[in-house]
Amino acid sequence: MKYTKLIKAANKAKQRSHSPYSKFRVGAAIVTRSGRIFTGCNIENSSLSLTMCAERTAISKAISEGQRQFTAIAIASDAKDFITPCGACRQVLMDLAGNINVVMTDGDGRSKTARMTELLPMPFTNAVLTHIL
Ligand code: THU
Repeated sequence: MKYTKLIKAANKAKQRSHSPYSKFRVGAAIVTRSGRIFTGCNIENSSLSLTMCAERTAISKAISEGQRQFTAIAIASDAKDFITPCGACRQVLMDLAGNINVVMTDGDGRSKTARMTELLPMPFTNAVLTHIL
């Protein structure tokens, strides 16, 4: 499947990155089952550890607007290599969006797509919370 529009939205969101410490701009765009796109950028904080990644910004915006079903997320950065979601984002995406497609882009305009189950095998999800002894 082509994700041209989603990738474009991720690149546009990257321009809003607030990354004065790392200077590493990231943008993400997540699409709902009905085709709505929500974008996000990374937002850094002087405490550093409270940094919000672009992926979590995007999914938080979508969820807070009442969205619950997603099909894919695209991620863009300024790096030459493919940008992949960090561990924290993998957890949040798997938990809140499930086994969606993750479209990772590189500085040469290429993209590769992986399923969330490939990026986070054996996830901890809310399924286990309903199966306590
Ligand atoms: N970052 C993201 O926003 N998404 C990723 O997938 C990887 C890392 C951000 C966090 C931080 O602001 C900067 O990139 C450098 O790690």
